[in-house]
Amino acid sequence: MPRNIVVTSALPYANGPIHIGHLVEYLQTDIWIRFQKMCGNQCLYFCADDTHGTPIMISARAVGISPEQLIEQMHKEHVADFDRFYVEFDNYYTTHSPENRRFSELIFNRLNEAGSIVKRNVEQTYCDNCRMSLPDRFVRGTCPRCNAEHQYGDSCEVCSTTYRPAELINPYCATCGATPVLKTSEHYFFKLADFEKPLRDLIAGGYTQKSVANKLDEWFEAGLKDWDISRDGPYFGFKIPGEQDKFFYVWLDAPIGYMASAKNYCDENKLDFDRVWNSSEYELYHFIGKDITYFHALFWPAMLMGAGFKIANRLFVHGFLTVDGEKMSKSRGTFINARTYLKYLNPEYLRYYYASKLTDTIDDIDLSTEDFINKTNADLVGRFANLASRSGPMLVKRLDAQLGQLDDKGAELIGKLTAAKGDIIANYENLKFAAVVRTVTALADEANRYVEQNQPWVTVRTDLEKTRATLTAVINAVRILTIYLKPILPKYAQKVEKFLNIDKLQLADVDRTLQNHKINKFERLFERIDKEQVSAMIEESKEAQSAGPPGPVKAEAELAEPFKPECSIEDFEKIDLRIAKVVKAEPVEGADKLLRLDLDVGPPPGRQKTVLAAIAQAYKPEELTDKTVVYFANLKPRQMRFGLSEGMILAVGTGGKDIFMLSADAGAKPGQKVL
Ligand code: 2FM
Ligand code: ZN
Repeated sequence: MPRNIVVTSALPYANGPIHIGHLVEYLQTDIWIRFQKMCGNQCLYFCADDTHGTPIMISARAVGISPEQLIEQMHKEHVADFDRFYVEFDNYYTTHSPENRRFSELIFNRLNEAGSIVKRNVEQTYCDNCRMSLPDRFVRGTCPRCNAEHQYGDSCEVCSTTYRPAELINPYCATCGATPVLKTSEHYFFKLADFEKPLRDLIAGGYTQKSVANKLDEWFEAGLKDWDISRDGPYFGFKIPGEQDKFFYVWLDAPIGYMASAKNYCDENKLDFDRVWNSSEYELYHFIGKDITYFHALFWPAMLMGAGFKIANRLFVHGFLTVDGEKMSKSRGTFINARTYLKYLNPEYLRYYYASKLTDTIDDIDLSTEDFINKTNADLVGRFANLASRSGPMLVKRLDAQLGQLDDKGAELIGKLTAAKGDIIANYENLKFAAVVRTVTALADEANRYVEQNQPWVTVRTDLEKTRATLTAVINAVRILTIYLKPILPKYAQKVEKFLNIDKLQLADVDRTLQNHKINKFERLFERIDKEQVSAMIEESKEAQSAGPPGPVKAEAELAEPFKPECSIEDFEKIDLRIAKVVKAEPVEGADKLLRLDLDVGPPPGRQKTVLAAIAQAYKPEELTDKTVVYFANLKPRQMRFGLSEGMILAVGTGGKDIFMLSADAGAKPGQKVL
């Protein structure tokens, strides 16, 4: 009886490109689904862009476009990238959709009516300058425990302590550098602890892997806390029903995006959503990375329980990607975007490499660049493509492209290959892809040994029919290995199907043989990788990353330059421009771009102000002493990371060395008004 299966992968954020770290999950999921489909099961794969939240709002602002424009552009890019890696979604939707709004409101209302939501005042970090509440990651400062500087508002990367942003020493807004303030606001909380018992039962029932369950036990022991599911405006998201300026936190509507994607697909394909999503007719599986376990093993099932929806059959959690044993790094060039990879390498090489490393555990997987090159060349080229190229061209050129029948030795080889089917199916089903690859490479070695032993290049001179029998066995070996590899290498399989002149291969085809059959011309299946291709890809990844400006908007740097909102003449007239004289100029330690200027802004004589100016790459401090400059006299002093700045020097240019300070006649007096 074929199974009906619904599968999701975590929704990537819509404010950055897909990179090879993301691809671990999408390739793992896609391989599993392709395997299920090859078994004859009906499998639907739903995903979407995760579009809401402060980072996306800020990224859009920084490039002068609306969040809607930003997420539309990213959606197109993500779809194209996945497509080129042969990740085959049934629906790749967006969380900024009417379906998602409806489900988010529905689930919220049901939880509210059931008494699972409470309102409470919270103190939150607010930036007056950016006019918004700052999410933890948008506040930085000195760690209260180890005093490491420039740490995020939620945890210290040096000593791993977690804390609240309010506990940071010298906090500053990561976007503008201003000192944030604390504001009180009423928020909505989901009472997670009310669901502790059913959640414990769910986990005990095998919802996820054992090692994940152990981690969850620690969280249960520490006690489940209420979860803040609201955010104050301005915020890009869905407004909370009945509220003017409060929104659902992005993590509330993100997993609901799985349902919304399914609903959109069902409506477009005339399927009954309730059956597909919410009945026992369909199995449901979520694939995620271990960093978002809390959301998917606790919050998400609790929300579904509280709102009367079914819970997934299983949650499959995987580890992170490391490259050459270390975290992906922008400076080392190992933070490789999908697009950059595709410029240099065949996507199936990565599909195969990841498959060769993937297990059912949450261990991290390492992409060793040297191993990647060796494995691609040894397995894809040396083992699989080689087997086809040792049989196809000879059959076509010397034997009329016609397969014969298996002889006893050939049947014995094929018997060994078909015998592995049960193990391979079990390993695919249980996400042990590395074991699948091990088995298939061992079988390919067996088939290559068969070629060596039977020497068709020798027998072809004396015994054409013996050679035909040998090559018929080799072609059948190619065919079976291709079936086993098809979930991992779909494009390769397509080429083999064309070459062998056969229909799309299914798993059941392992038990059939191809005899007395005409094949097509052989075309090359894989090319060797050159070390230089990988080095060039890494080099380009270094360049691509260093080009962007610092801060949370990096990924969108290439989109456009920001435009500021319109400003009236009255706004402009508020600016008081005055003459000042530089009394002292000096570098600012730790800030390459800044100079600290003491200005004589008289009268009364001797009155001074200190300004931090980002002109250090254009001017040496010694050039500035005694210079007459124009300054923005009534700019509100700002507490910056490197001290208080009490004004602003006027300069023009595009930044870096290209900055020209406005100066005035040397006779102009400090304090004199500038028109
Ligand atoms: O961690 C992330 O990248 C999130 N965008 C994943 C969301 S998964 C689901 F809940 F939507
Ligand atoms: Zn700010």
